[in-house]
Amino acid sequence: MTTRTVGIDDLGVYTPSHRLDLEELARSRGVDPAKITIGLGVQQMSVAPPWEDAVTLGANAARRVLGGETLQRDEIGMLLVATETAVDHAKPVGIFVHELLGLPASCRTLELKHACYGGTAGLMLAAEWVRSGAARGRKALVVATDIARYDLHSSAEFTQGAGAVALVIGEAPRLLALDPVSGVYAKNVYDFWRPLDRREALVDGKFSVDCYLEALDGALDDWVALARPTAPPAAACGALLYHTPFPKMAYKAHARLMAHEWRRTGRGADGLTDATEQTYAALVDPWLGAARRIGNTYTASLFFCLAWLAETAGDRLPGSTVGLFSYGSGCCAEYFTGRFAPDSAAVAARIGLGNMLATRRPLSVEEYEWYAHPATTVQPAAGEAPAIRFLGIEDHKRRYARLEMHS
Ligand code: HMG
Repeated sequence: MTTRTVGIDDLGVYTPSHRLDLEELARSRGVDPAKITIGLGVQQMSVAPPWEDAVTLGANAARRVLGGETLQRDEIGMLLVATETAVDHAKPVGIFVHELLGLPASCRTLELKHACYGGTAGLMLAAEWVRSGAARGRKALVVATDIARYDLHSSAEFTQGAGAVALVIGEAPRLLALDPVSGVYAKNVYDFWRPLDRREALVDGKFSVDCYLEALDGALDDWVALARPTAPPAAACGALLYHTPFPKMAYKAHARLMAHEWRRTGRGADGLTDATEQTYAALVDPWLGAARRIGNTYTASLFFCLAWLAETAGDRLPGSTVGLFSYGSGCCAEYFTGRFAPDSAAVAARIGLGNMLATRRPLSVEEYEWYAHPATTVQPAAGEAPAIRFLGIEDHKRRYARLEMHS
């Protein structure tokens, strides 16, 4: 059994520079805005313009952790890109990202898929690669990148979003050390899927919520059996993060986690409601700020919660413990924990998520609808171009442009 401390050494985020106000969308769809802002708990969503796709979102997130003083490109021995917004059936998003970032040829590169769980799958595989010693001192770059798209005018339309999170995984991590034991649950269900011929996902919405909660119970059962915790998550952790397709889902998940604990310890219902409300307010709600403003980002959703926690908690981070629940439709789920490192506040101070959200340009509903199905590939106006952007398809091949990057 290895004694290596392994986890997240650095974290980079990216979300497109356009947003839609969901109260405005609700009014244009004839829906009570309170259903969206209170019923689902979401206020805005990031919208990917035609010059962004899973490749550019992921590469733009990853470039934020590369080339600085702490990470050189040739230190990366593995690139795992998790997405459910693939751009090709055979050619992985990862190999485009590999080129756009200028990563070394000696770097195992692939794409991972299991709906929203893909990012966590990448994190766990990378951590085990480092823990096993196979990394030989190198690091893994795990990129979770997605554009959540449902049909216009569907009830799921309010749960879209776009963004990516890049995680650097290594030994002696400066941000978050991962505990080696986690709880996993997998079961074949048809709650959410995106057939090969569709851009937009299909979903059995209410059933998907039930599947998510059943998977949470299953992952917790597995975690309890393997980790034999001396304290329940809500007592042991300073923060609890859940995959957040919309913030109300994190509330439902937290209520289920508390009920699981009450059931496991043979308590009746006494005190459960109060304990749920109190722990939700202290451990969950403060870290949903990004999810409320970005929307669902599928594989990246849980890690945007982690980024918001890291950026918001700042100096309170070092030494604190976090519990994370990842759910991917279809389905696979995992509950895992980690402890923030002594240097975590300094790493978190460079994430820059709040600033990125504040500087997005608001779109009208008409612009958003046009972006959903643009007639042609358009290019950004001056000043709107991200560092890495999609140019279009020529001869069935995708073309990208990259502004000069340092080092
Ligand atoms: P819906 O039919 O639009 O909404 O579907 P609803 O009728 O269920 O109402 C939603 C909430 O608003 C309810 O609260 C209402 O009471 C409340 P709840 O009972 O749930 O606590 N409400 C109001 N509140 C205040 N004022 C009002 C008002 N009216 C109603 N006037 C649904 C909602 C989420 C199902 C839909 O948006 C959807 O299908 N979304 C996509 C699927 C999804 O996000 N599923 C989540 C679990 S699965 C998952 O997380 C995986 C996923 O990320 C994909 C992956 O893994 O890749 C999706």
